[in-house]
Amino acid sequence: MKIFLDTANIDEIRRFNDMGLLDGITTNPSLLFREGQDPDSVMRQITSMIDGDVSLEVVSTKYEEMVQEGLNLYRTGDNVVVKVPMTPDGLHACQTLSSRNIPVNVTLIFSANQAVLAAKSGAKYVSPFIGRLDDIGHDGMDLIRTILEIFRHYDFDTQVLVASVRHPLHVVEAARLGAHVVTLPPNVLDKMIKHPLTDIGLDSFLSDWRLLQESQK
Ligand code: E4P
Repeated sequence: MKIFLDTANIDEIRRFNDMGLLDGITTNPSLLFREGQDPDSVMRQITSMIDGDVSLEVVSTKYEEMVQEGLNLYRTGDNVVVKVPMTPDGLHACQTLSSRNIPVNVTLIFSANQAVLAAKSGAKYVSPFIGRLDDIGHDGMDLIRTILEIFRHYDFDTQVLVASVRHPLHVVEAARLGAHVVTLPPNVLDKMIKHPLTDIGLDSFLSDWRLLQESQK
C-alpha cells in the first residue's frame, strides 16, 4: 500500500520524506489556504521535493476551464496528478486529460457508483472520503470494501486512494482490504509511528545503560 501525505505544509513533507515514508502527496484548496502562502510557489516546491505523484486540484467548475487549469497545473512538475471534483464537468475533464496521458485523481467520491464512473472516465485515482462519511453516521470503510470488490471484478486500472483518514485504525483497515493508497494527515502518520511500549522500552534500555556506565567507574 502506498502512503501519501495529505498536506501542503513544506516542513511536514520534508520531515516525513526524510524518513523515507512518502510515496506521494495530496493537496486541496483548503490545505493550501491553511498555509497562507502563494499557492503556486507552494505547489512548485512540493512537486520538486517529492519523487512520487503530487495531486494538485483545479478550482474551476466548468469543463473548458477545468481542462485549461489542469494543463497549467500539469506544467508545475512531471509528477503532477490533476485533481478534479466528481461532477459531470469533472468527469468530462477527466476523460479529456486522461486521453492526453495526463493522470487524474477524481476527488470527493462518496459512493461506489461515483467511483465506477470516475474509473470509466479514465481516472488514475479515485478518492473516497471515508472520514466525512463516518462523520455523518455512515461506514466509510464499507465504501472502500465495495469499491475494491467492484474494481477487482472488472480489472479496472484505477487505484483506490483512501482519503479523509482520521486515525491509525483507518489505515490498518484500508491495508487489510488491499486499498492501493492511503493519504494521511501528518498527525495520523505521527500516531502510527508512536507506541507507548516503545517509549517505555527505550527509557528502560537507556537507564540500564547509564547504570552500567556508572558501575564501571
Ligand atoms: C484528499 O485528497 C483530501 O485532501 C482529504 O483527504 C480531505 O480530508 P478531510 O475530510 O480531512 O478534509
